[in-house]
Amino acid sequence: MSIGTTGKLQEEVQKRRTFAIISHPDAGKTTLTEKLLLFGGAIRLAGTVKGRKANRHATSDWMEIEKQRGISVTSSVMQFDYNGHRVNILDTPGHQDFSEDTYRTLTAADSAVMLIDSAKGVEAQTKKLFQVCRQRGIPIFTFINKLDREGQNPFDLLEELEQVLGIRSYPMNWPIGMGKQFCGVYDRKLTQVELFQGDDHKEISVRKVSGYDDPVVKEIAGEYFYDQLVQDLELLDVAGDEFDYEKIRAGELTPVFFGSAINNFGVQTFLENFLQLAPSPTPRKSTAGLVDPLNEKFSGYIFKIQANMNPAHRDRIAFLRICSGKFERGMSVKHVRVGKDIKLAQPQQFLAQDRDIVEDAYPGDIIGLFDPGIFRIGDTLCQGGGLEFDELPTFSPELFSKVTVKNALKHKQFQKGVDQLTEEGTIQVFKTIGFEDMILGVVGQLQFEVFEYRMKAEYGVEVQLSRMSYQFARWLVGDEIDPGKFRINSQLVKDKKENYVALFENEYALRTAMEKNPNLKFLEMAP
Ligand code: G4P
Repeated sequence: MSIGTTGKLQEEVQKRRTFAIISHPDAGKTTLTEKLLLFGGAIRLAGTVKGRKANRHATSDWMEIEKQRGISVTSSVMQFDYNGHRVNILDTPGHQDFSEDTYRTLTAADSAVMLIDSAKGVEAQTKKLFQVCRQRGIPIFTFINKLDREGQNPFDLLEELEQVLGIRSYPMNWPIGMGKQFCGVYDRKLTQVELFQGDDHKEISVRKVSGYDDPVVKEIAGEYFYDQLVQDLELLDVAGDEFDYEKIRAGELTPVFFGSAINNFGVQTFLENFLQLAPSPTPRKSTAGLVDPLNEKFSGYIFKIQANMNPAHRDRIAFLRICSGKFERGMSVKHVRVGKDIKLAQPQQFLAQDRDIVEDAYPGDIIGLFDPGIFRIGDTLCQGGGLEFDELPTFSPELFSKVTVKNALKHKQFQKGVDQLTEEGTIQVFKTIGFEDMILGVVGQLQFEVFEYRMKAEYGVEVQLSRMSYQFARWLVGDEIDPGKFRINSQLVKDKKENYVALFENEYALRTAMEKNPNLKFLEMAP
């Protein structure tokens, strides 16, 4: 390879930032995404990312369920350029009914943006998604939204990050006033005040000052808010965490930004700081050791499979995260699991809702591959073979249903459908011991509905789902597993790899079982 090629690869890798936004529904993820895309010029009008109302459904809707409920089930990928960077935003389903896809998407991100509603603080879904990011040790950037409304005291919000999530924080800016009296934010690094003007101003209005004791700050904030601001900033300087780049990169310290996405306030500052601080694609673990993105051999893995994006063609799209080397349309790669070479002829890239054929792509990018049914979640594709990326974690389901087929003659199609949907990661399947009854496990209610719908639409099978009262699944590891010990408010089952899994109705049952079986390990993910 010529030096020129290596230099180009390095340049492309360094300019990329691939991240996901983690938040609870209604915190403003769609709004923030729209504003970010606008900065990149990726869309002309805000409001095109997804329709929020049922009668305004988005063009990405690919299933009746989505239309009926007016929500976007599928998570897509959006790309834009800004200040010499190429930004990939991995969108995650924003509705309460999120699924394992949401979790898996996080494995393809190099960093996360945690969006918090200033009135609501850390909410349930944010907490779950945060934990997945935490496990991966990726940097997390916090945007506290809706400062134009009355919210919680900023110190209480930081305290909550530490108490609930266990992460320290470094406020990059600090609000002056709040709600109707919100004047703007004081930027601690640039020592300037960013003025809040109340609507969607494109240009940021800033006043450079010598420090927070500058009389100009007092003029802007007014006596009352000025005193408050000085007190707060002094306290932060004395008692707050120091800015520590290494800790940010290790995911131990989160830089915090205050703003209002709907008013486009604080978004550009956030974006610019984020691009500076967030990592470009980092090496990934594989069976052959760490794979550096600068390795010239192309490699990547599939983290998501989506069916029927285009209802006219019953195709599946496999989403591949590129980990190393350059991708070129039409290139041949080894499909490592099946040991065959395949040609990547019709790869697609995603710009807001439009799908374009992609000619080349680099580490950090996500490409969509046409899948005639040859891919599974976690599959590695690479030039020359010889490595497989670490298996994607299986996330512990929280909802369970017994499933039976209404017409026994359809059993074959039923099994085919179940196998396929398990491969796509729509559901997890368990079998009871002895009777071999089938139990489905999911993390979001919507997955059951998708399963039921697709079994009927694609396999012609009507299924009966009976909800079970279990809430927790734990994979058991140890020599002496006694089904008799898992009877009270719990049940022992097996997963598709014949691992023992115990299901529990409540935390009490789980704790009791752990106490009774001190020799067993209770894992939240499959071993
Ligand atoms: P989500 O994707 O996280 O679910 O949130 P989304 O962006 O849809 O925002 C949820 C609601 O919060 C929307 O209002 C949105 O306009 C509002 N919002 C977002 N950012 C801000 C902000 O900075 N300040 C204030 N005050 N509101 C904000 P909605 O009434 O539910 O929807 P819509 O009628 O505006 O579409």
